Amino acid sequence: MIIEPVVKGVVARSAHPYGCQQAIRNQINYVSSAEPIVGGPKKVLILGASSGFGLASRISLAFGGSNADTVGVSFERGPSEKGIGTAGWYNNIFFREEAENNGLIGKNFVGDAFSVQMRQQVIDYIKAEFGGKLDLVVYSLATGVRPDPETGELWRSSIKTIGEPVTGPTINIETDTMELMTIETATEEEIEATKKVMGGEDWASWIDILSEAGVLAEGCKTVAYSYIGPEATHPIYHRGTLGRAKTHLHATGDQLNDKMAQIGGEAYVSVCKALVTKASVFIPAFSPYILALFKVMKEKGLHEGCIEQMQRLFSQRLYGQEKCVPVDRQRLIRVDDWELDEDVQQQVSQLMAQITPENFTTVGDYQRYKTDFMQLNGFWLEGVDYKARVNMETLKQLAP
Ligand code: NAI
Ligand code: NA
Repeated sequence: MIIEPVVKGVVARSAHPYGCQQAIRNQINYVSSAEPIVGGPKKVLILGASSGFGLASRISLAFGGSNADTVGVSFERGPSEKGIGTAGWYNNIFFREEAENNGLIGKNFVGDAFSVQMRQQVIDYIKAEFGGKLDLVVYSLATGVRPDPETGELWRSSIKTIGEPVTGPTINIETDTMELMTIETATEEEIEATKKVMGGEDWASWIDILSEAGVLAEGCKTVAYSYIGPEATHPIYHRGTLGRAKTHLHATGDQLNDKMAQIGGEAYVSVCKALVTKASVFIPAFSPYILALFKVMKEKGLHEGCIEQMQRLFSQRLYGQEKCVPVDRQRLIRVDDWELDEDVQQQVSQLMAQITPENFTTVGDYQRYKTDFMQLNGFWLEGVDYKARVNMETLKQLAP
């Protein structure tokens, strides 16, 4: 069969396996010639390893100077009667192949990272086949639901404001249009549920259980990812439900840091740049900001994607420092520094003021936005023969 892109709203309903493979290779090529990670970790667990920042972390740690063996956990779907499967499914497979070809472990666990069974399977594997100890745990899950570990009932996150509703333009990738959307205010319950799903509780629980199992090495580090953004986006993000969840995550980082100190370890939250990922395209009224940001940062030669961000995080922040990891007054690692540069932000706000539903494809960098989205799903990559027939049976034989 020939695989065509299918997009519904902001959700991709198909993925191109060999495009995903090409995207992995492109990221490997980038980190192979970037400033290398010095003194990096060798045994890493990545929760949320199949796309976005988690996948970029994995590629950076394996191929960007540290030669790390990695265990990746993700929630993805393989090929079936229903379709080709998700991009993350193929990312896992082709990452593992590249890792193994270079003598590295790239073990994949596909299933629910929130479940007790997944924790146990990962720990059993680490003890039996992964050398017994981890020296870095990356927490990069992004999801809308999390089951309550006690009752199994689902918490659902909501992307809402707190205080006043906000109306703003939102991109529909399927139709290449911008539509006004109103984000309503959250109830107390919705705020709490969002904290449960996207806050730090599950991260802390993973670290606890890994620590109890004795699989954290002396000096082990852990890192989770956050976003803050400029004042202009605070009503929709930082001061909304997602921001509340991130504030919880930041506090968890401090608690875990105290805990990790007992084994000479450290815990950090790294604040990253706004980027197009499977998760971020869902944030209403956020796209005009990204369009303007990409355009300005590209013009200034400062634009980064997930892979550039992660390589900078590991080579210039979390590792390779003579003294300690550089953090701000809230003890956060900032790789959003280029995004928040005063000059960048000034130009971004000027540009944002000009963006309308009629002109957004030319005034902002919609080309980059859409290309990033398509490439996340294995489409629009150079060097891939999209006219070639893909054999479903061959795909079904690929194991994670
Ligand atoms: P993503 O959607 O690309 O990746 C999410 C990962 O979580 C995937 O590997 C997915 O399979 C996995 N996952 C989701 N539910 C799971 C489950 N139940 N069990 C196992 N795995 C599961 O998301 P992205 O954007 O890379 O987000 C990762 C982190 O980075 C989040 O904390 C996000 O808030 C943060 N971040 C994202 C920014 C952006 O602009 N995209 C900016 C700054 C921070
Ligand atoms: Na991720």
